[in-house]
Amino acid sequence: MKIAVIGTGYVGLVQGTCLAESGNDVVCIDKLADKVEGLKQGKIPIYEPGLAELVHRNYRDGRLKFTTELAAGIADAEIVFIAVGTPQGDDGGADLSGVWAVGRQVAEALQSPKVIVIKSTVPVGTNAELTRRMKEVAKVPFDVANNPEFLKEGAAIEDFNKPDRIVIGVRRPEVAESLHELYAPFLRTDRPFLVMSPESAEMTKYVANCLLATKISFINEMANLCEAYKADVNDVRRGIGHDQRIGFHFLHPGVGYGGSCFPKDIRAVIHMAQTRGLESRMMLAVDEVNEAQKQVLVRKVTEHFKGDLAGKTIGVWGLAFKPRTDDIREAPALVLIDALLAQGAQVRVHDPEAIPNVRAIYGDKIVYCDRPYGAVEGADALVIATEWNEFRNPDFEIIKRLLHQPVVFDGRNVFDPERMVELGFTYHGVGRLVPQPAAG
Ligand code: UDX
Repeated sequence: MKIAVIGTGYVGLVQGTCLAESGNDVVCIDKLADKVEGLKQGKIPIYEPGLAELVHRNYRDGRLKFTTELAAGIADAEIVFIAVGTPQGDDGGADLSGVWAVGRQVAEALQSPKVIVIKSTVPVGTNAELTRRMKEVAKVPFDVANNPEFLKEGAAIEDFNKPDRIVIGVRRPEVAESLHELYAPFLRTDRPFLVMSPESAEMTKYVANCLLATKISFINEMANLCEAYKADVNDVRRGIGHDQRIGFHFLHPGVGYGGSCFPKDIRAVIHMAQTRGLESRMMLAVDEVNEAQKQVLVRKVTEHFKGDLAGKTIGVWGLAFKPRTDDIREAPALVLIDALLAQGAQVRVHDPEAIPNVRAIYGDKIVYCDRPYGAVEGADALVIATEWNEFRNPDFEIIKRLLHQPVVFDGRNVFDPERMVELGFTYHGVGRLVPQPAAG
């Protein structure tokens, strides 16, 4: 099929590339000339495992093209995906200016009937409003569908190729047929292609993210309670997870969620509720608990050093909001670094991918280390802020030798408290029961 994707951000680039990989002719369109030029030369603006190889191959083979020319880019397409950003606006709601602007340009450029698909996460009612705005301009008939994405950063290609479900929101059911054809190669036999109204599809994306974020804030609150009562949240997780109504997924306590989706989508839902005279008390609480959780490591570090961090050096492993990405949007590590610097500490950091993005914010205020052990050298404590696999089994003897004091704050519960104490560390996890070191 002939496909156009507008917006070469995270979602658009993965969408366009994976569709090209399955044999479609894809044109990716972006107004940023530098970005388009870079993509043509094989420069991928984000780090996502496997993406660069797929972009190179499909570009080389001519199935994937990049352009800044929207009208020419969509001319032959049967389906046009809109995958522009919908960042948080000043009022907490999603800023839809990108969607409106692109919709207008598409409407002006339409020469033949097409299906326009909103891929961006948008508040309920956006499909109806975009249709209304485009109808004022377009000279040929068109349909607007919704097709929310459920990709996880760091696993986006895998998620695209093996979706749990495809959700399509359409006003006329026959419009979903071309989308079914497009997605059929990716749908395993037991996975559904769900067709519903645009409003339900728009709501589905928010409800999914709200529930996932709720699980995280819930387990974080319970982890803090475990800690206060000397229970171990890992045992409790096992105790609840085998109950099939509960399960194990998305119940890992830590330093709070970050990223480009959860924080903004939760606030968008709070705003959507307010717009209808309602109050989303659950989402207000989820957001508040998460903001507080981002301070948990700060509190632990500050308490350990009795409020005196001036002149102390803290090593931080992990800066990205989660492993296998270089994305630092709303990353808990940044909240920690800000607090450490504000209290006069020196900060040494390591992350396998995110250092360039972090350097753009902090410049020479912190020390960047290419290797994990570099961040520990001469530090008074090590903090784990992101659970990259390469942090899971380090050489603890080296860490002990390099640290001034053997203190570890494990914000992602990657280490075993018992083992850490045996090795002679003072260990702080999140909601973990830490044994007392043996006397003598
Ligand atoms: C999320 C949704 O999973 C995805 O479906 C949607 O399309 C976009 O938002 P993403 O933000 O890439 O994807 O990452 P995800 O793996 O969901 O993690 C989000 C945050 O929650 C991370 O900061 C992660 O560290 C945190 N998290 C996740 C926890 O703290 N505990 C958990 O158990 C799971």
